[in-house]
Amino acid sequence: MLILAPMQGLTELMFRKVYHNCFPEALDYAISPFLSLTHGNLADAWKKIDDVIPEDNRDSIPVIPQILGKEPLEFTDLANRLYDVGYTEVNWNIGCPMRRITAKHRGSGILPYPDEIRSILNQVIPHLKPRLSIKMRLGLNSPHEIFAIIPILNDYPLANVTIHPRTGRQQYGGQVDLDTFAQVLPLLHHPVIYNGDILTPADYRQLRNRFPQISDYMIGRGILYDPLLPLRIRNSHADNPEGDLTQTTHFILSLLDAIGSGTVRDESKMRKTKEYWCLIRRSLPITEQQAATVLHAQDYGSTLAQIHTILDKIQKKY
Ligand SMILES: Cc1cc2nc3c(=O)[nH]c(=O)nc-3n(C[C@H](O)[C@H](O)[C@H](O)COP(=O)(O)O)c2cc1C
Repeated sequence: MLILAPMQGLTELMFRKVYHNCFPEALDYAISPFLSLTHGNLADAWKKIDDVIPEDNRDSIPVIPQILGKEPLEFTDLANRLYDVGYTEVNWNIGCPMRRITAKHRGSGILPYPDEIRSILNQVIPHLKPRLSIKMRLGLNSPHEIFAIIPILNDYPLANVTIHPRTGRQQYGGQVDLDTFAQVLPLLHHPVIYNGDILTPADYRQLRNRFPQISDYMIGRGILYDPLLPLRIRNSHADNPEGDLTQTTHFILSLLDAIGSGTVRDESKMRKTKEYWCLIRRSLPITEQQAATVLHAQDYGSTLAQIHTILDKIQKKY
């Protein structure tokens, strides 16, 4: 299976809907960006519930809600509410590397403290209505932290464990540590999903060759760099540069339409458009200089105009 990785600010419902509309066969499901139980406050998490309202998600990639937090009572409460509205699985984020989160033993900040992980699972699992899956890194400070966590995870019924083989300290830089990941695999009794740095079909093939026992792969940035990547991986997509560009352009225009139809101020629309552009421009045959003209635009109207000019020029070339 191919799974869309959660990316806060990028893979929310709007993106998932547009993507599903353009490429309905590309992805099997998505994990939502995290609902955060900041300060153990359920109301905070509920504010973002719009992202996973089942009715709104009907014409979209099937989604599994993700929770970030370490308060067993609130976690159970939120997870069970999600079950009551229709979700049979929730995902626990113990991989987030942001310092303000890790400082409070949240996200990957909990990985150096296996006893805390055991204590939370102990209190949550017996009362949980949905199944629980986990998304994690190898550790916060060291990739070896995971070895103390594996026996704990093995003691509980989990749907699966997604591993992004970096440490929290690495954030998103440096290399993925495939050697440590390879040592983890035979020890963990749950199905494992691989996540990290799949940017081309060749990256995917190399991973499949090295880890033939893994059948599920989660992709994040690679899909924004090249929206057709899942189709290329599935081999359901014959190489056809002209057709690819038409599909990519159609997707970009659909995403711009969706951003434009929002009720927020133009300034926010411009910010969001530029955020996506920074990533998605990589799917287009343009220079850094051309791409930068969009980022230099001063208002929403000229941001859109710059993108349209670039897309028109590309299409005329073919
Ligand atoms: C901007 C951004 C936001 C992210 N938000 C989340 C999140 O909400 N939950 C989560 O588990 N991971 C989050 N991640 C991590 C990704 O899900 C994924 O693990 C990471 O990007 C590595 O996969 P990739 O190389 O395929 O992108 C985020 C990553 C980025 C770059």
